[in-house]
Amino acid sequence: MKDFDVAAVVSGGASGLGEATTRALVARGAAVTILDLQEDKGAELAAELGGHTTFVRTDVTDPASVQAAVDEATAKDRPLRIAVNCAGIGWAQRTVGKDNAPHDFDPFVRTVMVNLVGTFNVLRLAAAAMAATEPGEDGERGVVVNTASIAAYDGQIGQVAYSASKGGIVGMTLPAARDLANVGVRVCTIAPGLVDTPLLGSLPEEARQSLAGGIPFPKRLGRPEDFAELALDIVEHGYLNGEVVRMDGALRMAPR
Ligand SMILES: NC(=O)c1ccc[n+]([C@@H]2O[C@H](COP(=O)([O-])OP(=O)(O)OC[C@H]3O[C@@H](n4cnc5c(N)ncnc54)[C@H](O)[C@@H]3O)[C@@H](O)[C@H]2O)c1
Repeated sequence: MKDFDVAAVVSGGASGLGEATTRALVARGAAVTILDLQEDKGAELAAELGGHTTFVRTDVTDPASVQAAVDEATAKDRPLRIAVNCAGIGWAQRTVGKDNAPHDFDPFVRTVMVNLVGTFNVLRLAAAAMAATEPGEDGERGVVVNTASIAAYDGQIGQVAYSASKGGIVGMTLPAARDLANVGVRVCTIAPGLVDTPLLGSLPEEARQSLAGGIPFPKRLGRPEDFAELALDIVEHGYLNGEVVRMDGALRMAPR
């Protein structure tokens, strides 16, 4: 395996899938900038990983905030070639509730803002920085890996906001890859199923077992390391582009 002698940005890199990806990239020699709102966790992780790992408190929905983080990454002693988008939030509410109350407007907007607009914000600013670098093998200048969810396809009851935000990420993967073809930047998206991150870790063991039991094979929750491995596979596979890859043990979610 080759070392990644490049700079990388990982949004949501302080926790869960982003943290696992940060660790995997650093283990392979990349100089990672962690973009996250969580100051304590982000700074702690950067200190633990040391070397060229840095943390920049970033709100992915804010153009100036992301630009500052990308600037920090491009100032490192190697070209920015990798951007992994893991920042995201969830929201659960029915379109019309039991008491006939409509879905709240603001959480829908917020969910789409963080998950979809935030992903695009990092994608566009990281890709612009990559476009300014010298090309490598095959004319490639970089790769962006986004995180959708199987909820983009099999959204459950109450997932209308979350699924809309993740469906948007699936939808933009191909046009973004096409847009960026002329600058040699690839774009792929991972659609994870149920992965054991702090989010699921808060559920009782019984509920976690029951979720795992519904997965065809392997009959276990995904691990953050499974996600990180796939993200790195995509980075290394120079012919993968414009594609969304489900990583879900063949799980197809039922309505509830
Ligand atoms: N865990 C799963 O089973 C699963 C399944 C499918 C998709 N996903 C997606 O994977 C991504 C990572 O999820 P996770 O389980 O690791 O969650 P997590 O909560 O552990 O990590 C998400 C990180 O994003 C950060 N973040 C949130 N809003 C932000 C903002 N505006 N700017 C910058 N950072 C922000 C949080 O601070 C957090 O550190 C999310 O997009 C989630 O929707 C997770």
